[in-house]
Formats: sequence, structure tokens, C-alpha cells
Amino acid sequence: MISTPNNPISRARIRGWGIALPDDVITNADLQARLDTTDEWIVERTGIRERRKASASESTASLATEAATKAIKSAGLSPADIDLLIVATATPEQLIPHTGAHVGESLGLACGSFDLNAACAGFVYASVVGSALLNTGMSNVLVVGAETLSRIVDQHDRGTAVLFGDGAGAAVWSLGDPDYGLLSFDLGCDGSAADILQIPAGGSRLPTSAETVANNDHVVKMQGQEVFKRAVRAIGESAIATLANANTTIDAVDWFVPHQANIRIIETAANRIGIPMERVIVNIDKYGNTSTASIPLALFEAVESGQIKHGDSLLVAGFGAGMTWASALIRWGN
Ligand code: ACO
Repeated sequence: MISTPNNPISRARIRGWGIALPDDVITNADLQARLDTTDEWIVERTGIRERRKASASESTASLATEAATKAIKSAGLSPADIDLLIVATATPEQLIPHTGAHVGESLGLACGSFDLNAACAGFVYASVVGSALLNTGMSNVLVVGAETLSRIVDQHDRGTAVLFGDGAGAAVWSLGDPDYGLLSFDLGCDGSAADILQIPAGGSRLPTSAETVANNDHVVKMQGQEVFKRAVRAIGESAIATLANANTTIDAVDWFVPHQANIRIIETAANRIGIPMERVIVNIDKYGNTSTASIPLALFEAVESGQIKHGDSLLVAGFGAGMTWASALIRWGN
């Protein structure tokens, strides 16, 4: 659930980062042309104006590899320096093998790797796990959040097709100055809500068959309003728990970096946490909901634009299918 390393001599911090986005932009006008929807409805109900879509030659592993290559370079490292790769994704390259096998091969890594599925909370989950492993003797852990949600969304379902996009973000976590990095976190999951956001078939419970294909059981099924209600509650409670774990309050936070699922979820959660929208990082208008890629995309774009500065305190928070949630307090510095 919780952790606040007490007076550490070194602390896990993000040493390098990178993002990857497909070139293909799908606008609300594109969707309006083929679905029973409008730009006005999408903007008003979600805040989304555009999203990216992977081309036929792109995949979760290719986006992850591109983001990870940039992260290793920006950390001033080479692939041989990476001790572990964790790929957070809900849209794996294949069921077997794991996505990390493909990413590691493309990067030329010699280290171990595994995938982690905590849906949209995945990047924060993987960052917490990776940071903890740094205290076991590893020097550099590469964490990637990558998704190709366009491959698992029913493009004829206006309730979900307008929401999701593709992309990836990667971070190299290393130990460093104890004044910077991961200060506290909170992880959780309420499995009683597993059915409100799911892909019914293709796994052990309901293997692929002619019937599951005919029933369209291989795409995302979502109870939008129920997800909305629970998301707002989970983000708010988790963020407050993370602040309490660090013995601090929202007043000490410079930026709230939430999972980009819906602008109304972001606004309601920010209001509950008590942080004004001027201190909230938002890029949902450009990319939609990219699940586990959304927090790194928002975080690293804000760092690269100069919005987030050295020494800023960041509260990141995500929620997703499961229902999972994860939040963390990070003092930015590398
Ligand atoms: N265009 C036009 N009308 C639409 C569209 C659309 N794209 N989608 C739904 N509608 C209609 C519905 O059919 C409904 O019509 P009706 O009143 O005639 O039945 C009406 O709009 C209202 O539908 P609601 O579902 O009540 O709309 P709501 O305001 O709840 O917005 C939304 C829907 C955007 C999906 C919202 O519920 C939401 O964002 N929920 C959270 C979703 C989310 O965050 N999912 C990701 C979770 S993270 C992860 O793990 C992937």
C-alpha cells in the first residue's frame, strides 16, 4: 500500500526519459464523419480534440522501443547499463511472449524484463516496483508505459472510440540525491469492479472462438459513468494517502499530473484534492486517453516545455481497469 523511505542516503529518481507518438492524427472531425457523434459532444464531455493512431507497421513494442531509446540516451547511458526492463501495458504485443522480450531485443538489452498490467495506473505501479529494486543492487531500471489502444477499441462504438489513443513514455530510474525522486506512493485495486471495464474474451476465462469473434467480445466494454464515479473517488483518496505518507499537504505540491482520461474527471479530482487547475498538467486535448502512456506523456512533455522545473514537487495519480489506482509524490530533479 504505502511507503516513505525514511532518511535514505540515496533515492530513486528519473535520470532520463523519452516519449513516442504515432504520426497519424485522428481528429474529432474524422470521427464525426464516420460515427454518430459531434466535435461539440466530444470536447464538452471529454476535453479531447485529437488522438494518435498507430500505423500498420507500428505496435506497442515499436512505440515502447522508440520511447525507451530516447530515455536511455537522455540518461547518458547505453543499453548495457540497464539492469531491468519493465513494460507497463494493457495492450501487449502478443499474449506470449511478453512485450518486454520484443523491446529488449530491439534495444539490445542483456537484462531481465517483464510486463506489468495495471491498466492506466501501470506506469506508476511499474515505477514504484522499479524504484524498489534499485535498493537490491540494481543501478538503472528502465520503465516503459506503452499502448496501442486503437487495436482493442471497437471503432464503431461511439462510447469508446472517441476516447482512446496510442503512444508511449519511458523513464530510466536510478539512485541519486535523496532530496529528489520518489518520496511516497499509494497503490490499490478494487477487484469487485473488474467487470465495469474489460475485454471479455481472448484470455483463460473465455478463450477465442468463432462465437466470441461473432459476439464482438474482443474489444473494450466499458460502463462509462460507473468508471467516472469510481475514478474520481480513487484518484482523490489515493492522492491524499500519498501526501499523508510523506507527511505533507497539497499546498506543498507544485504540479498535479493526473492520468488523462477525461477533462471532467481531472477537474473533479483536482477540486477534491484541493489544487487549482492552473497547477494541473493537461494534454488530453491532443492525445486522448493513452492508458499507461498518459502520465509519462503528460509529465515529460511538461518537463521538456519548461513547465515543470528542477525542484518542483509533483503529485502523479492514475486509475484504470481492475479497478487499479496508483499515486506518487516525486520531487523533480535529475
Ligand atoms: N457522441 C455522442 N453521444 C454519445 C457519445 C458520443 N461519442 N458517447 C455516448 N453518447 C451518448 C450516449 O449514448 C447517451 O445517449 P442517451 O442519453 O440517448 O442514452 C448520452 O451520450 C450520455 O451518455 P453517458 O454515458 O451518460 O455520457 P457521459 O457524460 O457519462 O460521458 C463518458 C461518457 C465520456 C464515457 C464518461 O462517462 C467517461 O469519461 N467515463 C470514464 C471513462 C474512462 O475514464 N475510461 C477509461 C478508464 S482508464 C482505463 O483503464 C482504460
